[in-house]
Amino acid sequence: MSTEKAQLASAHVTTVRVNASDTVSIETDALVIGIHATPQGPQAAAGAAGLDQALGGRLAATLTAMGFAGKPEEIAKFPTFGAIPAPLVVAVGLGAPPADGESLELETLRRAAGAAARALAGTASAAVALPATTAEEVEAVAVGSLLGAYVFSRYQTNGQQKAPLAEVELVTSAPEAESAVRRAATLADSVTLVRDLVNTPPSDLWPARFAEIAEEIGGKNGLTVEVLDEIALKENGYGGIVGVGQGSSRPPRLVRVAYSHPQAAKTLAFVGKGITFDSGGLSLKPSASMDWMKSDMGGAAAVLGALLAVSRLGLHVNAVGYLCLAENMPSGTAQRPSDVLHTYSGKTVEVLDTDAEGRLVLIDGIARAAEDSPDLIVDVATLTGAQIVALGWRTAGVMTNDDDLRGAVVELAGAQGESVWGMPLPAELRKGLDSQVADIANLHPERWGGMLAAGVFLREFVPDGVDWAHIDMAGPAFNKGEPYGYTPKGGTGAITRTLVAIAERYAG
Ligand code: BES
Ligand code: MN
Ligand code: ZN
Repeated sequence: MSTEKAQLASAHVTTVRVNASDTVSIETDALVIGIHATPQGPQAAAGAAGLDQALGGRLAATLTAMGFAGKPEEIAKFPTFGAIPAPLVVAVGLGAPPADGESLELETLRRAAGAAARALAGTASAAVALPATTAEEVEAVAVGSLLGAYVFSRYQTNGQQKAPLAEVELVTSAPEAESAVRRAATLADSVTLVRDLVNTPPSDLWPARFAEIAEEIGGKNGLTVEVLDEIALKENGYGGIVGVGQGSSRPPRLVRVAYSHPQAAKTLAFVGKGITFDSGGLSLKPSASMDWMKSDMGGAAAVLGALLAVSRLGLHVNAVGYLCLAENMPSGTAQRPSDVLHTYSGKTVEVLDTDAEGRLVLIDGIARAAEDSPDLIVDVATLTGAQIVALGWRTAGVMTNDDDLRGAVVELAGAQGESVWGMPLPAELRKGLDSQVADIANLHPERWGGMLAAGVFLREFVPDGVDWAHIDMAGPAFNKGEPYGYTPKGGTGAITRTLVAIAERYAG
């Protein structure tokens, strides 16, 4: 029996272990079962049979009486009055049963497990008997449980939020369930780290602190971490990162996090936007757009989280992560609209809008990443409000210089339950980026297609012959709405698992 801890969780931690015994004999605070919605009413999924028997065959009738249909993520709780050791049942909807010969979507399992874990906040233990007969399904249930249990309460002294569900016993007799749970815990640890970083207020997370955290975590997990401070950045010509960071009393950093494997055939570079707070700089944002700009380092956090998982999974690939860290602030030392930056690529950039800062730090990261001779560069960024206009809160945009790569990213993300949609890099947008005084300007005069214009700008800094993907996750990185599935309010950890999936693909 293996016990896996989400070690990096902030306050309480959740453990998941495999239990192959009968659901009706497990001593636990709550039994979680899955229910399908059918035209005939709620129908117990595999895993609920023992309970139904213990209830004298009255499970479906009970649920119907409660008005429970079995829709995805629907939750019903009812007491067992001593019929089984668990005093409480949590029924979670799975939607329509899969057609004959088909299996349930993994994301349906993740979200159901996540919804149940959220409904069980404040509870010590639960046995989760969702239908999981393969290692993949076990992993999905475990990932959903661990991520759904996440609570960020580090700054609350009033007990406003319930403690996360502490212990999960995953009821399954699937083959290789133990290693699937270990893998799930590794992925969940990384996503938890990313969420914690995104949720941490900028008063406690500034570039140098972020760099220290990367050193601490990297050092413990087989990663080589190098930090360039503001002096090294200036000396070595990182004009983009220096320009964005110069308005803040808390200077910028570029962190290189490297993982290598002796059997690796491929090298990947991940570049993350790490603006620990984006005020807009002198092109100041209105207050209403500023309060959640602590999440503007979500890309760098996802890169760090992905590198951590890649190392802990021991993937046969070389992976290098660049965290482009700066705080974008207005002040007497801040860069001005019309300033020209000498960037690491050798190209000059006219800063027409200091709020288009993400692309300025990313191009230094991309140019530096190219020196590692990667087979692929992926940059991840909360880059544009236009992404949210185009694709909404939950779907990230991916732009690439290769059609097959774009399709592959969309597919790999989808398999993780992360919504990513392919977007174009229209050639006609390049002209608008021409500058009167420098090689290129950081702002396109037209507002329309702003996500694409940002991608077109970045492309200018990708060396010929290098595969490159740009993921704009301005909306998905931070959930301003209600929790759903395994996604809480606030930092979501978006794209972290997609980066790991990309690394796995390149590991062969
Ligand atoms: N960090 C913002 C983008 C953003 C917006 C992220 C909303 C998350 C939610 C970025 O630095 C920014 O300010 N972009 C500008 C670019 C514009 C000035 C070309 C934007 O989208 O308005
Ligand atoms: Mn900005
Ligand atoms: Zn920004």
